[in-house]
Amino acid sequence: MILITGGAGFIGANFVLDWLALHDEPVVNLDKLTYAGNLETLASLQGDARHVFVQGDIGDSALVSHLLAEHRPRAVLHFAAESHVDRSIQGADDFIQTNVVGTFRLLEAVRTHWSALPETEKTAFRFLHVSTDEVYGSLAPDAPAFTEAHAYEPNSPYSASKAASDHLVRAWHHTHGLPVLTTNCSNNYGPFHFPEKLIPLMIVNALAGKALPVYGDGMQVRDWLYVKDHCSAIRRVLEGGALGETYNVGGWNEKPNIEIVHTVCALLDELRPRADGQSYATQITHVKDRPGHDRRYAIDARKLEAELGWKPAETFETGIRKTVQWYLDHPDWVAHVQSGAYRQWVQTQYGATATA
Ligand code: NAD
Ligand code: TYD
Repeated sequence: MILITGGAGFIGANFVLDWLALHDEPVVNLDKLTYAGNLETLASLQGDARHVFVQGDIGDSALVSHLLAEHRPRAVLHFAAESHVDRSIQGADDFIQTNVVGTFRLLEAVRTHWSALPETEKTAFRFLHVSTDEVYGSLAPDAPAFTEAHAYEPNSPYSASKAASDHLVRAWHHTHGLPVLTTNCSNNYGPFHFPEKLIPLMIVNALAGKALPVYGDGMQVRDWLYVKDHCSAIRRVLEGGALGETYNVGGWNEKPNIEIVHTVCALLDELRPRADGQSYATQITHVKDRPGHDRRYAIDARKLEAELGWKPAETFETGIRKTVQWYLDHPDWVAHVQSGAYRQWVQTQYGATATA
């Protein structure tokens, strides 16, 4: 079996659902259920003995050690993190605690367990760390995309905390020999994405008749990858990745935010036209920019393609259409997410920054 951390979050939950659709290999899913953890996403696995959910913190060494001893997973896949840049700007404590200290504690518990394994299990064992392209910092408009050799230049509290975790993982391999793999992926989008992030926020706000808040001029560029393609890349790296190596994962799909928002609006105009016949694009509102906002990210995923034969299955056009359709088809999931803590967050973030 495998042990996953953060498997009730956006990418982790998509990974668990895809994994169990493809394999019968059981999953132990350790998740603290912060505001971003949502067990409703995993509702289809209720009663499925292949999925063992444990609510807990990656920083709880006794719990992690107990889970490792009890289940003897062949791999630990580490998704758990605080993941939202804007939240990290408002307050970085949880980011340091989970992404840095939590990853350290997890590495130590895994190392202790791994060192005592019999030789065959020890050799087969993997620790796969899921990270982000944001650790590389911001690119000039014409600069080549990030390769794995690009220097780390994290600019936000979030990316700095992820960079720190990447360095810890690297050191645990270099110094202790822990069999690690690291993936650095670009912006994901797709089903079950918490509507504090750009694409789901735009869909949900558009349908609710609310403003679509674009930071600054909206010309910040991100590379976008459909979440299931990220999951397939992680499976590929787990199977065939070389120990201690890092793999960049991306969709060859750079787009400015404003274009993303217009694409979402055009799809909604087609699939769920507004009653007044106007475009959802009329709801676009430019708001104050994010402090320290990185201008451009771009991923060079050639290493993963050349060495492990991975390619994304979706283009942006197919992936974004599926995503918009998914949100239209799942109003209950959205409504349940929107109740509670999420509403307070929107108040804090946009109550103060909206300029129009
Ligand atoms: P998310 O915020 O949706 O989910 C994070 C999950 O981790 C939640 O279920 C939360 O409850 C859990 N968690 C948080 N702190 C925990 C702790 N201390 N112990 C146990 N569980 C805890 O995040 P996501 O978008 O699914 O991202 C998953 C991983 O992928 C993160 O490591 C993130 O840095 C990385 N990543 C994300 C993106 C993206 O576009 N979302 C892109 C590249 C990499
Ligand atoms: P986000 O989804 O928060 O991911 P990240 O900051 O990790 O890339 O944001 C994606 C881009 O969209 C980023 O450039 C910030 C921008 N953005 C907005 O313009 N408005 C919004 O309301 C949000 C949440 C993000």
